[in-house]
This record gives sequence, structure tokens and C-alpha cells, in this order.
Amino acid sequence: MGIDIIEQLQEATAFIKKRYPHRPQAGIVLGSGLGNLANEIIVEKEIPYNIIPHFPVATVEGHQGKLILGKLNGKIVVAMSGRFHYYEGYTAQQVVFPIRVMKFLGIDTLLISNAAGGINPSFQVGDLMIIRDHISLLTVNPLLGKNHGELGLRFPDMSEPYSKHLITKVKTIAAELNIPLKEGVYAGVTGPTFETRAEYKFLHIAGGDAVGMSTVQEVIAAVHMGLRVVAMSVITDMGIREEENTITHEEVLKAAADAEPKLAAIFKQIIAEL
Ligand code: HPA
Repeated sequence: MGIDIIEQLQEATAFIKKRYPHRPQAGIVLGSGLGNLANEIIVEKEIPYNIIPHFPVATVEGHQGKLILGKLNGKIVVAMSGRFHYYEGYTAQQVVFPIRVMKFLGIDTLLISNAAGGINPSFQVGDLMIIRDHISLLTVNPLLGKNHGELGLRFPDMSEPYSKHLITKVKTIAAELNIPLKEGVYAGVTGPTFETRAEYKFLHIAGGDAVGMSTVQEVIAAVHMGLRVVAMSVITDMGIREEENTITHEEVLKAAADAEPKLAAIFKQIIAEL
């Protein structure tokens, strides 16, 4: 038997702390096509995932796969450039490993971005959506299996996975920056197939406003550990259209890149106000 998850987390954390001893206040996870914010960090240390003990290695196009440590708007942050998706074949526990490491590094707040399909008919490609809540009915819970009391409770409360306080702050910041902002529920699925017409419809009826292949497992692990979470989706395609409607990964990446500056501006400001 290998060493347990807590020891793995301690080893990964010690490895990073040896190279960057300062405590980051916030962790940032950047979604597909949304990595540019990382360029605005005054980088003090970059650590490729593949040299950190026990880290999975990123594979998907649009993801670089490194941890960035440095300053953003005066605050010390740790950013994941490239995240791990369940559809890549990792276990749910591997997907959330870096989130747990960031908590061990000392963050108290986690900012997450993702590319998502719009299923609320009032949305448009390029919209930003602040996530108010999520539905995880089609994803695997990363807390399945033995609970580690060092991380959190066996049965974590999920009544407020996304900090109401930070949602209000994001809305205020968006208004000040003149950036239109939608609000809604993120439906988490495993992918890698985009949804069928029937599935987009189903997810909308079930209460989703946007659908995506990341975030939910990360948020569950973060809430388990008591982190404050704020998450935003960039709407990269409209799944619910009735007309001929194919969706490609290239289209998703392009729409994400086009909308990225709006998201980056909001994230930068929220970091400053933490
Ligand atoms: N469905 C699922 N995940 C996605 C989508 C989508 O339409 N767009 C971007 N990520």
C-alpha cells in the first residue's frame, strides 16, 4: 500500500514551500481558454505539475500544466495554469489533489473559472455568469471513500458552496467596471461528449443555467476544507438552440479567449479586495 492522501498532500506542500516559502492568500483555477490572467501575475515562482510529488499531469489542449506563485494586485496568490478533468481519466481524488494542496499552502479563498455551455435561453455566447449554486448529479463525488478528519467533516454542509459575500462583491465590481454579468446554476457533467439536445433540455429543466465538465468536484473538495469559493463561467456556446447546432472544442476555446479580459478584470479586482 502506498502512503495515504494526507502524507501525499504534506509531501507535495513541503516540496512547493521549499521553493516558495510565502503563504498565498488565494488560489486561482483558470479554465479552458481562460489562462491569460496568469500573465498578469508578477511571477515569483513557477513549478511544473510534473515535478511536484503526487501531482497528476495535465494533458488537454489549452492547458499548460504548472503552478504559478506570485503577486496579483498586491496579494500573494497561487494559480493553477491548467486543471485536471475527470474526463481525462483521473480519479475524482486526483482531480481535487491540487485544490487540497493549495489549502495546505494556506489559502483561505478559491477563485475558479470555467468555460461552460449556456442552457438558459436568455444567455449569449461571451456572457459571464457568476455561479450561485451547482448541481452535481452527473459527476463523481471526490469525497467518496474514507473521510480524513484533517480535511473536513464526513457529511459536509452544501447550503452555500459559493460565498454569498463574494458573489455580492463580484456583482458590485462588475457593475463598477461596466461588465454585464449573469447569475446562475452550474450543472456539472463528466463530458467529454458535449450534451445531446435532450440532455441540454433536461439540464435546463433540472435547474441548470450553464453546463460544464469541471468545477463541481473542486468546489466540493474546497467546501469540505472550509475554503471560501467564488466561481465564474464564460458562456462559450449555446446548447439549447433548436436550430442545427454542433459544438467544437475550438469554438469553445475561441469564445473563452474572447471573453477572458472581462473575467480577468473582475478576478483582479476581487483579489485586491480580499
Ligand atoms: N457542455 C459541457 N461542457 C462545456 C460546454 C458544453 O456545452 N461548453 C464548454 N464546456
